[in-house]
Amino acid sequence: MATEYPGPKGYPFIGNIFDVDPTSPVASLEKIAERYGPIFKLRFAGMDRIFIANRELMDEVCDEKRFTKIVAGPQLQLRNCVGDSLFTAHSDEPNWGLAHRILMPAMGPLAIRGMFDEMHDLASQLVTKWARFGSQEVIDVSADFTRLTLDTIALCSMGTRFNSFYTDEMHPFVGAMLGALQESGRRAPRPAWANHLLPAATAQYEEDIRTLTETATELLAARRANPSKKKDILNTLINGRDPKTGEKMSDKSILNNMVVFLIAGHETTSGLLSFLFHYFLKHPLVFQTAQGEVDRVVGRKAITIEHLSKLPYLEACLRETLRLHPTAPVTLLKPHPDLPGFATTLARGQYEIRKDQAIACLLTPIQRDPAVYGADANEFRAERMLDENFVKLPKNSWKPFGNGLRGCIGRAFAWQESLLVLAMLLQNFNFELYDPSSTYELQIKQTLTLKPGNLFMRAAVREHVD
Ligand code: HEM
Repeated sequence: MATEYPGPKGYPFIGNIFDVDPTSPVASLEKIAERYGPIFKLRFAGMDRIFIANRELMDEVCDEKRFTKIVAGPQLQLRNCVGDSLFTAHSDEPNWGLAHRILMPAMGPLAIRGMFDEMHDLASQLVTKWARFGSQEVIDVSADFTRLTLDTIALCSMGTRFNSFYTDEMHPFVGAMLGALQESGRRAPRPAWANHLLPAATAQYEEDIRTLTETATELLAARRANPSKKKDILNTLINGRDPKTGEKMSDKSILNNMVVFLIAGHETTSGLLSFLFHYFLKHPLVFQTAQGEVDRVVGRKAITIEHLSKLPYLEACLRETLRLHPTAPVTLLKPHPDLPGFATTLARGQYEIRKDQAIACLLTPIQRDPAVYGADANEFRAERMLDENFVKLPKNSWKPFGNGLRGCIGRAFAWQESLLVLAMLLQNFNFELYDPSSTYELQIKQTLTLKPGNLFMRAAVREHVD
């Protein structure tokens, strides 16, 4: 006999809409998990949603024979903007397979190594900006990392310069992207008819989507007007042929994927760098250890690609940051459509789960599971993520890049970019938290991804003694 899912009762028709704060839904869901346990059910817009919040359940749903990605909630709404792009396509849609097969080689480690010089160029712009600021200027940490990561993905993948460091305002793409992500998030729990009652929000949403598409359309037109032999993502989208069928991508599909790369390729990495700086600023010992490693391995020399594989402590800091703050905090799965019968079960047969039932994996509690990480699971301890300890973790206890075939295609890109930026910043600066009232506690801002809120610091160029 299957067990009833735990969870707050909710109201007729509207379900659990009031149990989730629309400005910080993930934090609300984590609170519900604390109260109801690692598996619970909520109801939104007439649909059940199952949530899981520990490693054992995550391990179960990472079995790709039994579970697969479902595009639902905010991601389903995002299809209003990017259709059946790599990120938002249902796994059985032909355009997912086509884009996946064409793009995989362009995102492999060798191709990413080829992007080192352009990544270095943008990271140098950030170093120059902060050096010119001087030690008293207050830096908005997330804003500058967003400038950096947006410019980096735009240059490396599409050969274009957004020049975000040379303007006070962010590129219009950023505002439009935040608007489109936020509105997609707000639309997810409300019934479709309710959108008609919100004409101003709908008009803004459509305007934001237009800005995103126009940015991509201009970039595509510019490349077609000035073709290059560069082996970047844009040329791969334009010229790539499916190794299976020989087919090329349609213009619509190219544009959808350009927007997705610009969005997915910077938000999450910017959040990762910002969260790590929060730990650097709050834990001087972590900062000193990381900086000591950069001094030992790189010293005063120019950083090369070879240095990046010799920074195990920095790499552990990145892993530990993504463990505590998975910047893409929720993975959505469903029972595999090929399963026979009504579908399958969860929690070793305890709960029934039907076909097309979405399961939301709450990565923060999953990656802070005390059964895996111990009593100090909520603490930042980079040592537990050093290679020798990382490889011993039980499988599926660290999943910030998602799972299997539908996992992140940009992981190698994000890793190389993050290591390079960190090494350059630590080589050149010391930092201090800007917190005049000495009260700063980490605040978390959510769109589709997570970032620290109101985090400010100062950067002082290091006085090197040779
Ligand atoms: C997919 C996380 C960086 C492009 C994903 C997924 C996660 C993720 C969790 C799976 C989403 C799902 O299950 O629905 C991250 C994190 C990053 C990062 C934490 C940085 C720290 C990047 C970068 C790019 C990128 C730099 C592009 C260069 C994509 C794309 C997908 C994806 C296109 C969809 C893949 C597919 O479904 O086939 N990412 N990502 N990501 N990511 Fe990333």
